[in-house]
Amino acid sequence: MPVKPRIGLFDSGIGGLSVLSACLRQNAAAEYFYYGDNERAPYGSRPPHEIMAFTREAFETFDALGVDAAVIACNTATAVCVEEMRRAFSFPVAGVEPAVASAAKHGSNLLVIATPVTAQSARLRALIERFPDVAVTVYPAHGLAAAVEAHFLRGEALDLSRHLPAARGWDGVVLGCTHYALIRSEIAHFLGAPVYDGAEGTARHVFDLIKAGTGNHFQPREKPNNCLSSNCNQKTGQSVFFLGSGRKSNRKLFDLNICFNFI
Ligand code: DGL
Repeated sequence: MPVKPRIGLFDSGIGGLSVLSACLRQNAAAEYFYYGDNERAPYGSRPPHEIMAFTREAFETFDALGVDAAVIACNTATAVCVEEMRRAFSFPVAGVEPAVASAAKHGSNLLVIATPVTAQSARLRALIERFPDVAVTVYPAHGLAAAVEAHFLRGEALDLSRHLPAARGWDGVVLGCTHYALIRSEIAHFLGAPVYDGAEGTARHVFDLIKAGTGNHFQPREKPNNCLSSNCNQKTGQSVFFLGSGRKSNRKLFDLNICFNFI
């Protein structure tokens, strides 16, 4: 593994910061490029061809940067196009997977909450079929990812009763969207059950891919054109760069460095 592996993370917005945070816990010395497409978030009800085109734009930036690996830190984009990105780019690509496997170790009556696109996806169906002894209810949490963005970026109040089922009694709740991990304790409290997310597992997976050593090895450009903000701490060795389109809501996120509250 390179001493300072270069890793790209992509999400529709701020949700993937939960994955970046897990990556930083596992390797504080790596160099991270976080591409949050806040301007076009949420993705969760968009048609697949749009999600794929937006993901490809981010991946082209990662490719130009010569990343050693990239993470689709977005369940929706993973469900739609992780295989296409793996085929299209030469660096290893990790996706996020709802943590059904972890939750299934602790109970047999699970709720998976996800965006409408993820909830309907063949990928989620195939994952659930791997656990025939577990009863899994999938709930499309309409509008919840957008509400999480609005809460953190514009200070809007979060009313979970508008997005989540009223039913309780689940052995576990699986967070099928990285945005939900930013309000995990609120969700656990609202549904009265332990919650599981895939951030730690994804972070482990990306470093395994880098160790396997199939990285890009291009000569990278020093800094991408669309870098909005960065936090390089010489003492801790941390280097995180935030990328994106740089307009509207993005500006607030990056100018105010709200992004750093999550990592
Ligand atoms: N954070 C994303 C996910 O994991 C996307 C949410 C959205 O943009 O709708 O699905």
